[in-house]
Amino acid sequence: MLKIGIAGGGPGSMIGDVHRITAEATGKAKLVCGALSSDYNKSLTKGKEIGLKENRIYRSVDEMIDEESKLPAGERMDFLIIATPNHLHVPAAIKALENGYHVMCDKPLGMSLEEAKRVEEIVTRTKLKFGMSYTYRGFTAIEEIKKIISNGTIGGIRKVMIQYSQGWLSELFEQAEEKKSGLWRTDPKFSGAGGTIADIGTHAFNTVEYVTGLNVEELCAQVSILVSGRNIDDDTNILMKFSNGASGTLSVSQVCTGEGNALNMKIYGEKGAILWDLDQSKKIILKLAESEKNIEVNELDVDLNVVANELVDLHSESILKGFINIYSDFIDSITTKKNTGVPDIEDGVRGMLFIEKALESSRDKKWVKL
Ligand SMILES: NC(=O)c1ccc[n+]([C@@H]2O[C@H](COP(=O)([O-])OP(=O)(O)OC[C@H]3O[C@@H](n4cnc5c(N)ncnc54)[C@H](O)[C@@H]3O)[C@@H](O)[C@H]2O)c1
Repeated sequence: MLKIGIAGGGPGSMIGDVHRITAEATGKAKLVCGALSSDYNKSLTKGKEIGLKENRIYRSVDEMIDEESKLPAGERMDFLIIATPNHLHVPAAIKALENGYHVMCDKPLGMSLEEAKRVEEIVTRTKLKFGMSYTYRGFTAIEEIKKIISNGTIGGIRKVMIQYSQGWLSELFEQAEEKKSGLWRTDPKFSGAGGTIADIGTHAFNTVEYVTGLNVEELCAQVSILVSGRNIDDDTNILMKFSNGASGTLSVSQVCTGEGNALNMKIYGEKGAILWDLDQSKKIILKLAESEKNIEVNELDVDLNVVANELVDLHSESILKGFINIYSDFIDSITTKKNTGVPDIEDGVRGMLFIEKALESSRDKKWVKL
């Protein structure tokens, strides 16, 4: 049983509880300490509520790493989960790695490509495990799509379309005091140079490169601010050229009024096509020249009402199971010292490259190479 420390996940946070509960739901790890909020009292309240001992609830990530390192091996944490706003990802990751702790970091890896490369250098040097929680990579259907493509069922890929639409930034959310928890996302000081392109664009980009097994080699982006008064992008359309010559589009937005969390992709090859929609996340449509087949995947066999009860009404079953799969693979990669396919530092750095190149392309109004 590995021991976990967490940064973020304070009262009312969006994703911290998902990290903690799904990591524990693997049955392979247990939270032992945390710096859950920038406000120590909030951290204390939440820490006690989730069963942490008061002396393992810390004022900051730095304090947590320093104090945990004084504990005997076997008692101190083994890995750090980073579920804070983006500006804290890299400082927390560096502090943890330099002190010998493995890290699971939420996306995007940091504020800039330069920052991300610093983390990559430390991961390479220390050989510690560095996971990235690109949620959709934990989905059984995504794994199955990758398999169908790699075994040649749809032939060489020619065209890829991925669309990720949300509506929660349709209004100038920044002015709504009661929604304070997510406000950092629309402030470049905390989010980084990218807004929506970083928040959900990186999910779409990572998913598409993973399932196709192809790299995006060039892109031409239109990164926009569609809600007036906003300081950061909230909508992006990208044309992509893949390493095998295939072409593609990636469209992400958080101002698609009425949408919740709508993600879908269509991949067309020489012999057939694959269609997938998050709304029916266990179903894959496989279209061949003269036939069409629905493939239903079996997701992880676990009773979420038992292992993630408090999250069941808030998040989809597939998202929770996806997180459990990611954590299970991550923990196995630590205990077996093997590569288990969990998204890693390379995925994190590539995500940052994607953000920077999309912003550059849009600013300079030209195609750019990745
Ligand atoms: N993988 C996914 O599907 C997914 C989904 C949502 C968010 N995210 C990512 O997770 C991260 C957190 O997002 P969120 O939506 O939960 O944000 P949030 O604002 O809801 O929560 C952030 C948490 O971090 C805490 N925090 C802030 N400063 C801190 C500090 N100095 N020390 C310790 N804790 C601190 C806050 O108190 C809060 O509890 C972001 O990087 C976001 O991009 C990923």
